Amino acid sequence: MAGYFGTDTQQRLQAQAEASAEFIASTPGACQAGRTMGCDDPRIFGWDRIDEILGRDGACGFRLIDTDNVDDIRSELESRGCRFDTWDVFIADHDTALAASKRLVDRPLVDGYFLLPTPNAAESKQVKDLQAMMASAGLVPFSGSMLTGEIASATTIAITDADANVVSTAHGYMPHNAYSPYRQYAWGGLVAVAESCRGQGLGKYVNALMIERVFQELGASHVYELVSASNLPSRRMVEACGLRLEPTLTCGIATHRESARFTK
Ligand SMILES: CC(C)(COP(=O)(O)OP(=O)(O)OC[C@H]1O[C@@H](n2cnc3c(N)ncnc32)[C@H](O)[C@@H]1OP(=O)(O)O)[C@@H](O)C(=O)NCCC(=O)NCCS
Repeated sequence: MAGYFGTDTQQRLQAQAEASAEFIASTPGACQAGRTMGCDDPRIFGWDRIDEILGRDGACGFRLIDTDNVDDIRSELESRGCRFDTWDVFIADHDTALAASKRLVDRPLVDGYFLLPTPNAAESKQVKDLQAMMASAGLVPFSGSMLTGEIASATTIAITDADANVVSTAHGYMPHNAYSPYRQYAWGGLVAVAESCRGQGLGKYVNALMIERVFQELGASHVYELVSASNLPSRRMVEACGLRLEPTLTCGIATHRESARFTK
C-alpha cells in the first residue's frame, strides 16, 4: 500500500481507505470510494459508522444512493455540521457501453500520441507522472496502489505525447463488495486531458479504452461515471461512450461545512 499523492489530508484519507480494504470487503453497505471511506447503502451501513468515519476522517463518500433519499441524507449530514456535494450518475450496461466504446478505440489514436503499458508499481515515476497529470486537470488522484490494482481490481490508462509527457489518463475499478446489488458495477473516472491537447478526441479515446478494459479485464456488468452538473465536456465524453444519465441514482461526498468541494 503506497504511492499516496496530494495534500496531507488527501494522503491521510487515501491511506485510511486502503487500510480499511478488508473492513470494506466484509461489511454490508460499505464500498471503496478510493479517495475516502465510502458506503453505498447508509441504511444498512448505519449512521453510527458514518459518524465514526466523519469524526476520524472529516469525509465520507456515498455511492449510487437512491436520489429519493438524498434530501434525508443531506439533512442528517447538515445536523452534523457537514455539507453534501453531489455528482450526476451516468451508467451503461456491458453491451451498450462496449459497442459505443469499441467504435472509438477501433480508430487509430490521434497522431503524435502514444499509449503506455498499464502501470504496475505504486511508487514508480510513471505513477507519479499520472497523478501529477490528474492533479493538474483539477482532479484529486487515487493512491499508487489503487491505480495499479493492488487494493481493488482496477485498470489505468495513460497516454503520452512524443516527448513522453503524460497528457491523458483514465481509471476504472470495482468499488462495491459482495453484499451490494452493484457488486459487478465498475466505476470509471480520473479522466484527464492536458489543457493544450483538449478538443481532439483524446478524452473520448481514453475513456472508451478504460470502458473496454473494465468489461474485458475486470468482468464488470455495468460501468458508471460521475459528472458534476456544470462539466459539459465530461458529460459529452461519457455520452459518446454510450453512458446515459440515471436520475434515480446519485453519488456524493460528505465533508465538513467549511471545506472546499473535494474534487472536480
Ligand atoms: C473532460 C475532458 C477529459 C475532455 O477531454 P477532451 O480531450 O477535450 O475531450 P474530447 O475532445 O474527446 O471531446 C469530448 C466531447 O466533449 C465535447 N467538448 C470538448 N470540449 C468542450 C467544451 N469546452 N465545451 C463543450 N463541449 C466540449 C466534444 O465536442 C466531444 O463531444 P462530441 O463527441 O459530442 O462532439 C477534459 O476537458 C478534461 O481533462 N477536463 C478536466 C478534468 C475533468 O473534468 N475530467 C472529468 C471528470 S472525471
